[in-house]
Amino acid sequence: MNVLVTGGTGYIGSHTVVSLLENNHQVIVLDNLSNSSVDVIDRIHKICGKELIFYQGDVRDFALLQDIFSKHNIDAVMHFAGLKSVSESINNPIEYYENNVSGSLSLIKAMKEAGVFTLIFSSTATVYGNPATLPIHENMPTGNTSNPYGTSKYIVERILQDVAASDKRLSVVILRYFNPIGAHTSALIGELPNGIPNNLLPYICQVAMGKLQQLSVFGDDYPTADGSGVRDYIHVMDLADGHILAMNKHHQDSGVFIYNLGTGRGYSVFEIIKAFERVNKVKIPYCVTDRRTGDVAVCYADALYANQKLQWQTRFNLDDMLKDAWRWQQNLAREKSQ
Ligand code: NAD
Ligand code: UFG
Repeated sequence: MNVLVTGGTGYIGSHTVVSLLENNHQVIVLDNLSNSSVDVIDRIHKICGKELIFYQGDVRDFALLQDIFSKHNIDAVMHFAGLKSVSESINNPIEYYENNVSGSLSLIKAMKEAGVFTLIFSSTATVYGNPATLPIHENMPTGNTSNPYGTSKYIVERILQDVAASDKRLSVVILRYFNPIGAHTSALIGELPNGIPNNLLPYICQVAMGKLQQLSVFGDDYPTADGSGVRDYIHVMDLADGHILAMNKHHQDSGVFIYNLGTGRGYSVFEIIKAFERVNKVKIPYCVTDRRTGDVAVCYADALYANQKLQWQTRFNLDDMLKDAWRWQQNLAREKSQ
């Protein structure tokens, strides 16, 4: 298939592009490079030896979308482009709604105009807010979000449901990611956090590098086994594979299809620190601080639906995720020092 990937030079997008190319799809990437670099294209080429078409531009640029759809015979769109920092979204909600909501509107309008009806949308477990029960399954309530980033994703989910209800030609897949970590095993692509990382794994990697002094563990008084927050960490290549399976399964369908992409298993912050130290043989100094506002105690997926419907199985365990994250971080530091 010819697949348009918005945000395709970003963290999850670039890994999914690798999966798409390895599965013999033709890929057209649109990215404004606001949070990624154009050299990701060369890196993808080094990994799979295949070419892709790249447009530098914004998903809100409707004329550009019209141009792309008219030039390439697109069969499906994977929509990763967006802003993703929870803390930034609290300080800058307008930018977040404008990018995430207007960007998605512009895309879906251009798709309909061009007669392209398959969309895979990057959503998040954050739309579940503070879950009443665990594990979290797809038909649990959504919308009780605690920050503009999460709300922007929830709003787009609602918009897509309304649009799909009004036009039966549309097949919309909403993928709710749990906590993507790790990197491609080549260590040629991975996550590039801007400034001081907000997320646990990028922060741990920078502490391990000696770039940051110590990790702050946000709270050890949660109602969990060791008191620290529990999350469902998933290898980014497993996440990427989920996109291909979802696209293949629903390409000819009509309606909205929602899947959790998580492993179904939660790990605490302390468990992550210990496992990182063990597999990578590096010490992670840490201190315990107050809870971070807006964090939930525990979040992990019921992954059964994606396992059964998409025949999706994760290939990587926690040790693999932590090894790959660290290998990528070291490779990046080596490249920067050359
Ligand atoms: P990322 O920032 O690495 O990638 C997003 C890419 O989109 C970047 O390359 C950026 O330059 C591009 N972009 C942003 N706004 C754009 C616009 N208006 N037009 C064109 N390109 C634009 O983020 P990621 O971690 O790869 O996340 C991908 C998607 O998955 C995002 O929509 C994010 O909200 C969602 N998501 C991410 C996580 C996570 O933990 N990483 C979890 C849940 C959901
Ligand atoms: N944590 C720390 N110290 C840190 C960073 C995080 O203790 O320096 C803890 C958090 O309190 C939490 C866990 O590590 O218990 C994971 O935190 P992350 O910031 O890595 O991830 P979140 O679960 O808060 O959120 C992430 C993304 C969201 C996404 C969500 C679900 O940041 O964008 O996963 O997909 F929506």
